[in-house]
Amino acid sequence: MASEKPTCRWGIVSTGFIASWFVDDLALDRPDANVKHVIQCIGSSSLEKGEAFAAKHCPNSKPAIYSSYAEVYADPDVDCVYIGTPHSFHKQNCLDAIAAGKNVLCEKAFTINAREAREVFEAAAKKGVYVHEAMWLRHRPLVADLTKLLHQDKVIGDVFRMSSDFGFYMDIAGLPETSRLKDPKLGAGTLLDIGVYSLTWAILALDPDSPKNSQTPKLLAAQTQKNGVEVLSSVILHYPSSGRQGMITSTTLSDAPSDVVCRILGTEGYIDVTGLAPSHPASFTVYTKKKDGGGFEEASRSNYTDIGHGFVHEADDTALDIAAGRKESPIMPWKETIRVMEMMDEIRKQGGTKYPQDDE
Ligand SMILES: NC(=O)c1ccc[n+]([C@@H]2O[C@H](COP(=O)([O-])OP(=O)(O)OC[C@H]3O[C@@H](n4cnc5c(N)ncnc54)[C@H](OP(=O)(O)O)[C@@H]3O)[C@@H](O)[C@H]2O)c1
Repeated sequence: MASEKPTCRWGIVSTGFIASWFVDDLALDRPDANVKHVIQCIGSSSLEKGEAFAAKHCPNSKPAIYSSYAEVYADPDVDCVYIGTPHSFHKQNCLDAIAAGKNVLCEKAFTINAREAREVFEAAAKKGVYVHEAMWLRHRPLVADLTKLLHQDKVIGDVFRMSSDFGFYMDIAGLPETSRLKDPKLGAGTLLDIGVYSLTWAILALDPDSPKNSQTPKLLAAQTQKNGVEVLSSVILHYPSSGRQGMITSTTLSDAPSDVVCRILGTEGYIDVTGLAPSHPASFTVYTKKKDGGGFEEASRSNYTDIGHGFVHEADDTALDIAAGRKESPIMPWKETIRVMEMMDEIRKQGGTKYPQDDE
């Protein structure tokens, strides 16, 4: 007899943009999946919003709708809470869920700064619950295949440099004052919102020991603020032990002009990762040095098709971790989240971007 698939009953906290994509993917009919997802309940600032969200994004189920997040944490039928609020609320939402004994998957940026992240993981360790930063990029099959080719098979020789630019035009001045993209109290700025993906590509491309024994590179950063909101970040990373370097940027001043979301250079060739954005890679092409003469030639191309919006890998991995009794994701363990937050703290320190929470 076939064994039962692990089931994860989700409590959804907030009904914003990314929560809708995540829940769409939980609701997909995937008979071949090795886990089962149940949308148990939805918590929102208003019952009406929760009901409208469920009607649109939960076509085949009837989750309980709550007009508070606290009721999600208190629901005995929830195995894991998904947090999709603005970054500035992540710390408190996580702490409240943890205090209720719940496992947590919390959107990136995990918190506003590394101090807040440490506080959350300390609470999780004390309570003995699972907590995982929803850095969905790391869960993509494309990333697993690419990092194997780079660091184990060494298809482009020794990697020495990478670059990744996340450009996403936003008329920040035209947004309402309450928007999380405009209000510094809500963590507005490109680095935590989209720059974290360029930074993740740098780590994936340059650090073969991530996430288990990651190194911390030296950082040289500049940031530009407009009307109090950081709109452009540029960072050079340098790994002293290998000499590898990365150049990464993020901006809301313009869309990216090309579909190359990350370029990785090695002594024997290079790899272009292409897609909609650094958060949405779709393909990568390996170019190797021509045998005779200069230049490069295409050696292979790998294409990937998203299932739904692309969140199923992260959701399935989380459900499997919880079913196996793990407290951390092996793909995004606690110390890696803290290290990324520490790097973003350092970039903001050099770039002059401060959030009110930094002084707490
Ligand atoms: N993984 C990804 O690809 C991805 C993409 C975009 C965003 N994100 C992350 O997800 C988080 C949310 O981003 P989003 O774009 O989904 O935001 P959003 O559309 O503004 O939604 C945020 C939701 O949080 C709740 N909320 C509670 N207090 C709020 C406040 N004071 N202001 C605004 N919303 C408040 C609201 O839900 P209720 O009213 O229902 O409670 C709101 O709908 C951010 O941390 C962001 O970095 C991740």
